[in-house]
Amino acid sequence: MKVIKADFPILDKKVNGRNLVYLDSAATSQKPKQVIDAISDYYRNNNANVHRGIHTLSVEATEAYEGARKKVAGFVGVKDSSEIVFVRNATEAINLVAYSWGRLNIEKGDEVVVTVAEHHSNFVPWQQLAIENGATLKIVPIDSDGELDIEAFEKAISSKTKLVAFFHVSNVLGTINDVKRLSTIVNRKSKARILIDGAQAVPHMPVDISKIGCDFYVFTGHKMLGPTGIGVLWTRRELLSQMPPFLFGGEMISKVQLAKSTWNELPWKFEAGTPDIAGAVGLGAAVDYLSKIGMENVRKHEIELVEYAVKRLSKIKDVQIIGSLDPKKRGGVVAFNVDDIHAHDVASILDSEGIAIRSGHHCAQPLMEYLGIKSAARASFYIYNDKSDVDKLVEGIEKVRKVFKR
Ligand SMILES: Cc1ncc(COP(=O)(O)O)c(C=O)c1O
Repeated sequence: MKVIKADFPILDKKVNGRNLVYLDSAATSQKPKQVIDAISDYYRNNNANVHRGIHTLSVEATEAYEGARKKVAGFVGVKDSSEIVFVRNATEAINLVAYSWGRLNIEKGDEVVVTVAEHHSNFVPWQQLAIENGATLKIVPIDSDGELDIEAFEKAISSKTKLVAFFHVSNVLGTINDVKRLSTIVNRKSKARILIDGAQAVPHMPVDISKIGCDFYVFTGHKMLGPTGIGVLWTRRELLSQMPPFLFGGEMISKVQLAKSTWNELPWKFEAGTPDIAGAVGLGAAVDYLSKIGMENVRKHEIELVEYAVKRLSKIKDVQIIGSLDPKKRGGVVAFNVDDIHAHDVASILDSEGIAIRSGHHCAQPLMEYLGIKSAARASFYIYNDKSDVDKLVEGIEKVRKVFKR
């Protein structure tokens, strides 16, 4: 895959007098000019509210918004685009399921299964639901290689299980779950619903939701070259029809009378108020951009980069890489620690060299506790990174060691 840094205007920026080396795409990706231009073009030429007006601009805005929904559906193998609900982000998508489906279906004595490596977005909503409704939250561990403990996973599922929620790709370990295999296990052992957090998967590899066998799949636009403020919930139509609305107000109604109201068709029943129209347009442009490259190529590129990063990082004395060392088993994130130097110190010395990485608990405190560490540094890669970025990271870490006299 040819790395096209020139499409990403921010990569021309100097940070602390150095060329920016952006290695924090797992937090949020940078945006190509094609996405920035699509948003700007929408506001310049088509801006109006959707689904409401007869006038030309409103029709154009509606076509742009609904057209984006179709693009997103096609990108993840969903045939019926009315099963794609636009929300603000992955977190909101999970909360929608927890409030709408969860509060109706999970009762005292029921069990909800999650893994210890979930992002807080896919942990706290289930923890709170379990506390509120008197259900039990069961937590599946990982093994020493950062892989999910499949035996423990299988054991955790029973006829009491009502929901199983797990990540597709871990934002800390990089672990790629075999989501089809996990879904098959759940479907064989129970009638539980399955929710998959695809926030770190959809931007980085081909995902065909129709082949997984899950019930809910969520992802977020800003990690896949799209703007912030737009995310996606996919659910089967049959399930979406049974779920009550999460938010009430305009757009989501069919008829409002003094004493009662009825709800709009899918997916609008779940999109109360004026949606993020420009956000959807930007996400549609991001999907176009990624489709042109081809997700197989994105994945191949990241395997190459991770392989190179793991090889170089593991040669540095004092660097401990978290998770599997096999690049085929992980996504484009490499979390590490440098001896006992705090990850924030590592990140701030790297920042002085213009290198942006993430440090801290990565919104995965249960995992940090499980691993027995307080924090970690994390470099994450995307289509605009190349091996020279890894070389700069390695030079930066050598500087960290020098400053701390390691
Ligand atoms: C695995 C995973 N799930 C969920 C999220 C939440 O995404 P958002 O903040 O866009 O809701 C993130 C963000 O870092 C993530 O890495």
